[in-house]
Amino acid sequence: STAEMYPSLKRDPKYAEVTKEHVAYFKELLGSSSAVIDGVNADAAGDIEPFNEDWLHKYKGQCRLVLKPGSTEDVSNILKYCNEHKLAVVPQGGNTGLVGGSVPVFDEIVISMARMNTIHSFDEVSGSLVADAGCILEVVDQFLASKGYIFPLDLGAKGSCHIGGNVATNAGGLRLLRYGSLHGSVLGLEAVLPDGTILNDLGTLRKNNTGFDLKQLHIGAEGTIGIITKVSIQCPQRSAAVNVAYFGLESFEKVQEAFKEAKKQLSEILSAFELMDLKSQQLVSKVRPDVQKPLDDDHPFYCLIETSGSNAEHDYAKLEKFLEDVMAKEIISDGVVAQDETQVKTLWSWREGVPECIGHWGGTYKYDVSIPIQDMYQIVDDVHARLLEAGLVGDTDEYPVIGTSGYGHMGDANIHLNIAVRRYDSAVEKVLEPYVYEWVAGRKGSISAEHGLGLAKKNYIGYSRDETSIGLMKQIKHLYDPA
Ligand code: FAD
Ligand code: MLT
Ligand code: ZN
Repeated sequence: STAEMYPSLKRDPKYAEVTKEHVAYFKELLGSSSAVIDGVNADAAGDIEPFNEDWLHKYKGQCRLVLKPGSTEDVSNILKYCNEHKLAVVPQGGNTGLVGGSVPVFDEIVISMARMNTIHSFDEVSGSLVADAGCILEVVDQFLASKGYIFPLDLGAKGSCHIGGNVATNAGGLRLLRYGSLHGSVLGLEAVLPDGTILNDLGTLRKNNTGFDLKQLHIGAEGTIGIITKVSIQCPQRSAAVNVAYFGLESFEKVQEAFKEAKKQLSEILSAFELMDLKSQQLVSKVRPDVQKPLDDDHPFYCLIETSGSNAEHDYAKLEKFLEDVMAKEIISDGVVAQDETQVKTLWSWREGVPECIGHWGGTYKYDVSIPIQDMYQIVDDVHARLLEAGLVGDTDEYPVIGTSGYGHMGDANIHLNIAVRRYDSAVEKVLEPYVYEWVAGRKGSISAEHGLGLAKKNYIGYSRDETSIGLMKQIKHLYDPA
């Protein structure tokens, strides 16, 4: 469990333990039996397990009660009661978070948003969508596709993450380069504050300069100041033409040159520029040996470029011309362009499949960092050298580390440094931390570019924020949630 893994974490005795009386209150409140998973009176351990454990199988709580509200009023009543009875809670969306923030640490009550999944309205002229926080990202995006629109965020976990979870973590994803961050596209939201008060800031218009922009505080707050119940978001037109190219390069210098050229030559149609190192692609290929690799030879680096525009022929010609040009200049060593929808998906799977494949052997140490782009890859080589020096890397079971890999959102100077391991091991952790944080802080980077702090990065916030900022954050937390 998390508590055993981090013995310095202590459950604060000021929080009450869940009793049979509390459970009876929630059953009465929520009415439906499927809305309460009761591990206090009943032996529901098996049903509760998935809510206690995170996607990485790293953080494991001991909650014995899961509540699934069906409406904003339910959420309000739950939080009001919990606040008054000093019951600790953790909001949970699709539980795809990667920093241990979506699961309980001790016996907190899980408030799952899964039942709140209605799409309320879509304005086909402005592109504004209003939907419940518990809607699954992919479901919303498919709805939008039928209207000729697209959700301005896409990520590998789209089949299970919630749009409320996306907003709570301010997820970045694969097309931030094109559509910007959720701080720009979220138009409004409804949230329930820790004492049960409902904050209705669910505007659907782009402009509203009437004082502080309060919704922004909830975007990326990871549920610390309230539970998001509805989201209003600006959705762009879906592009009629999407093209994808995948290519190999011989150095990180060449990757930077390719990115510069892509911006220059593809300009307004460029919609993604993703980076994968050789190790990441080798690990994907080890997990799925039957899938043919897009390119024959091994290259130290790979990039995936996506273009989205309105004119298929024009866009394809532009992309081909770009590839010819960067090949002629020897910026890239080899490349392929997807010829149909299926190939588009296959090429994307070599990027989107990395997080899952890399965890295949038992676990992953994940560092989601942003670093000035010139230095971005150096961290992978430096960390790997340290792990080798410590004698932790090898091909047999006695070595915890399988390999070190870097991949991520080149277009946003955001790299995912991932150490694939056979098991989580404190010897590995000691080599990595605080080394990685110091390395990043030394280059004025961020120790969490897009995944958030959660439990994993909470104690390291000081590497990326100064005392004044942290002090203000504490005051804001206290204002919203004194208990
Ligand atoms: P959860 O994991 O359930 O929760 C995340 C945090 O938000 C927790 O702190 C939780 O308490 C809080 N929370 C959840 N719902 C609410 C709510 N309604 N109100 C208030 N707080 C809430 N992240 C990226 O940024 N970019 C990526 O490209 C990306 N790719 C991923 C790929 C894979 C395969 C996986 C597994 C994860 C990826 N992630 C990525 C991380 C993760 O998917 C995102 O953080 C996602 O936005 C989390 O959504 P969720 O619904 O699963 O939230
Ligand atoms: C990604 O870009 O694939 C995600 O952020 C998940 C990860 O870091 O592994
Ligand atoms: Zn990412």
